[in-house]
Amino acid sequence: MPLYWTNTLIARPTTCRHNVICRTCNRVAAPLTVDVIAGRVDDPRVVPGPALACRALSCRAGGRVIIEDLTLEFAPAERVALMGPSGSGKTTLLTTLAGLLPPAKGRVLVGGVPLDEQPELRAGLALVFQSYGLLSLLTAAENVEVALRAAGRPPREAVRLTAGALERLRVARFAGHLVEELSGGQQQRVAVARALALRPRVLLADEPTAEQDAGHRAVVLDELLAVTDDGTTLVIATHDPEVAERCDRVIELRTVSRHRSESRP
Ligand SMILES: Nc1ncnc2c1ncn2[C@@H]1O[C@H](COP(=O)(O)OP(=O)(O)O)[C@@H](O)[C@H]1O
Ligand SMILES: [Mg+2]
Repeated sequence: MPLYWTNTLIARPTTCRHNVICRTCNRVAAPLTVDVIAGRVDDPRVVPGPALACRALSCRAGGRVIIEDLTLEFAPAERVALMGPSGSGKTTLLTTLAGLLPPAKGRVLVGGVPLDEQPELRAGLALVFQSYGLLSLLTAAENVEVALRAAGRPPREAVRLTAGALERLRVARFAGHLVEELSGGQQQRVAVARALALRPRVLLADEPTAEQDAGHRAVVLDELLAVTDDGTTLVIATHDPEVAERCDRVIELRTVSRHRSESRP
């Protein structure tokens, strides 16, 4: 079944970067400007020089089209929430943007360079997998260290960065535990720590707070959002409206049937 795409852009308030109700400024932000575009997404207002982009992207899974003719750009340091019902293609899109799933059509560009022409650009992208993607026979710390060593970090630096990331995600005391000994929420925080430790140019996170209690959800979200202070682009797939509120832009994926039912009077 073909999909329609709806791109919902929420304008940044003029005095701060927080949407809707700004918890930092403790006031209601400027009225939202919402621009809904059904069909092909191609917004002319995006910032030039995107860190990550896709052009005329189509993806297939299980023999059918999941994403069709999608064009998006993500600016440096931008925080983007990717929303939409289960099955709308969030994971497929993030996996394709991360260069782990080849597009059926179209291209992914990193810093304007096609990823298919320079696959090594994948090193600048990190994905927090929805299913964590940890190696179950390794410890929490080894999972992070292995990723850092594979990215070319020297051993001592890998150990130092791993310890710091596990500490920030409140899983330092499980550093020596095998992944299979950890709860789902703890595993998810290790997966987030691994992506943060890599210090990528673009961090893609697939429902990274889904398994967290309220306290740890705040920790995960604060740590993820903080990467944009250093210029990293953050794209978060989420069902959580509060996560979306703290992003600069929301991209919402909807199926044709849902879009049509919403259009009825
Ligand atoms: N490997 C696969 N084989 C068959 N179907 C798949 C596969 N991966 C995803 N799909 C289908 O693609 C659609 C989008 O899935 P997904 O990207 O996981 O959506 P979301 O992350 O928004 O829940 C779903 O209908 C799902 O069943
Ligand atoms: Mg998913």
